[in-house]
Amino acid sequence: MSAKRVRKAVIPAAGLGTRVLPATKAMPKEMLPIVDKPAIQYIVEEAVRAGIEDILIISNRGKGLIEDHFDRTPELEERLAGNPAKKQVLDEVVGIANLANIYFIRQKETKGLGHAIGRAREFIGDEPFAVLYGDDVIIGDDPVCAQLIRAYEETGKAAVGVKEVPLEDVSKYSSLKVENIRDNIYECTDMIEKPASGEEFSLFSILGRCVLTPDIFDVIEHTPPGAGGEIQLTDAMAHIARTVGITAVDFTGTRYDMGNKLGIMQANIEVALKHPEIGEDFRRYLKEIAAKI
Ligand code: UTP
Repeated sequence: MSAKRVRKAVIPAAGLGTRVLPATKAMPKEMLPIVDKPAIQYIVEEAVRAGIEDILIISNRGKGLIEDHFDRTPELEERLAGNPAKKQVLDEVVGIANLANIYFIRQKETKGLGHAIGRAREFIGDEPFAVLYGDDVIIGDDPVCAQLIRAYEETGKAAVGVKEVPLEDVSKYSSLKVENIRDNIYECTDMIEKPASGEEFSLFSILGRCVLTPDIFDVIEHTPPGAGGEIQLTDAMAHIARTVGITAVDFTGTRYDMGNKLGIMQANIEVALKHPEIGEDFRRYLKEIAAKI
């Protein structure tokens, strides 16, 4: 049986962003900019580059700015259209509204990532789908979403994007029981969310991306609250890993955690250094300032 094509993606963006307060008091963390583009636009662009056509963003109260960002802006467009020097920026602004078919649904209570993904059941139906966490920006030539879709197409099994994390950090993420199949591809047969010291399977953690099969929805419905009292996607995926198996892909690309302060600064500095408009000036500035510190 050949695997179905992955056409749909879900971006969970209904977290409270408590690690980045007060910036995220009124502003969704997914809208925090990396130089000149909000984090969630990088994520939507990654999905589109991987061939995704329909995207469901899971939002909640106070995240209306995300909807506005992917909408048209007639007054702004009219103003830009009147100035030939602004042609490029006009094209960019209009292009954002045409990136993909973007839909929104609200997670009415913040009950965890697993619960958020459960809200996508009607939208997904009986298809495999990609999940791109709304606060994980991953920059690289080969979109991680595409790397996982290729793994799914090869095996028909769910696929997760993983990286090894330092032992002292693994308790903040998940830990996977894996066996290497070849190169950067592993078979995952179990996983645990936020392991206590000694509970780790390995240093491999899921970082921000997966491709899931629709059987996950029944599992989520039967998943009780786990770490932090939240319904954890990892607990639901652990069931699939133990019964069917999951492919883990040690992906290529640099991941920035836009849900924490250091991650936001790293993303901004690294992207600014390569930015076509300000890269050179910024590099000079950083050297000057580094010499003074
Ligand atoms: P996080 O745990 O990083 O998000 O969830 P958070 O709850 O905003 O983090 P804190 O408060 O700073 O610790 C990972 C992803 O899951 C989404 C988040 O938006 C993020 O993209 N999420 C989390 C939901 O959509 N709903 C939830 O109930 C929890």
